[in-house]
Amino acid sequence: MSKKKIAVLTSGGDAPGMNAAVRAVVRSAISKGMDIYGVYRGYNGLLNGDVEQMNLRSVSDIIGNGGTMLYTARSEEFKTLEGQKKAAKHCQDLGISGVVVIGGDGSFAGARALTNAGVNCIGVPGTIDNDIACSDYTIGFDTAMNTAIQMIDKIRDTAQSHDRCSIVEVMGRRCGDIALQVGIACGATAILVPEEKYNIEIDVIERIIDTQKTGKQHFIIIVAEGVGGVVDMAKYIEQRLGIETRATILGHVQRGGSPTLRDRVVASMMGHRAVDLLDEGKGNRVVAMNKGKIVDYDITEALEMPRKFNKDLYKIARTISI
Ligand code: ADP
Ligand code: F6P
Repeated sequence: MSKKKIAVLTSGGDAPGMNAAVRAVVRSAISKGMDIYGVYRGYNGLLNGDVEQMNLRSVSDIIGNGGTMLYTARSEEFKTLEGQKKAAKHCQDLGISGVVVIGGDGSFAGARALTNAGVNCIGVPGTIDNDIACSDYTIGFDTAMNTAIQMIDKIRDTAQSHDRCSIVEVMGRRCGDIALQVGIACGATAILVPEEKYNIEIDVIERIIDTQKTGKQHFIIIVAEGVGGVVDMAKYIEQRLGIETRATILGHVQRGGSPTLRDRVVASMMGHRAVDLLDEGKGNRVVAMNKGKIVDYDITEALEMPRKFNKDLYKIARTISI
């Protein structure tokens, strides 16, 4: 019987820990006697035939590296039915029957399309945003937050020295999880997330005034990217309260760096499960973490799940960050 051939790619925004997931996929596949191929630059690699067979040593010394050794991309061509058929044909010509797709929900929509075109795909959640509804955790989230708190601790030093207010924008277009946890960890006076409506007077100005009354003279405000407007907000606070205010957008620094232990271990577990699923002949599944256990869901079911924001944690943050 000929060997089963599978492939692995990373797609969408990169996330620290993607390399650990690639490594787990490659080594798990080889341990099961499969041939494993690395696809470069996301779905573009399947369209261009940018595919290379990997061995145990292809993924040596990458577990601690940020970024993705397979590179990543966003592919417009792959969003078309023609593109999906072309990618499936390239896989079939190479004898590749399954692909592990490490990325976010856009990449999972692509994985479903490729499964429908005849190539079993398994999604692995790799994105710093933690915005995959079916999973309690996404690869890269922990590293991104740890990078953010290191930066914000430094910002606090200078804000404190000058009795200033610092507004810091962290990543997360639709998801405030980074802002919420980082805000708690940095003792932010206010945290603004896209999931919760806010009123600048009540949720920022009044909180600063109340905190000021108890003797505090410097303030950190954490704002998720999806809320935005940090530069104007800084001007407004300065005008309204007479407190010197600075705005910092942390940006892509949050996407880089060596993955934390948590990201390396979760990525290893998820990558391993993805290969198990392909070995069982399954496709159109997403690997997820549920209460510390690795589970999997149908991709459509996963994409349709409503995302839950941790309102309880948000309330705790408002209570203790004063
Ligand atoms: P992420 O995976 O991080 O959410 P994107 O939304 O940019 O990132 O998606 C990554 C890639 O997945 C896209 O560039 C495209 O190639 C593919 N993709 C996204 N949405 C779809 C879709 N509805 N159908 C097919 N492919 C898609
Ligand atoms: O999805 C991860 C993420 O870093 C988001 O937090 C951010 O909004 C987006 O990607 C930025 O994308 P790009 O790297 O294309 O600017």
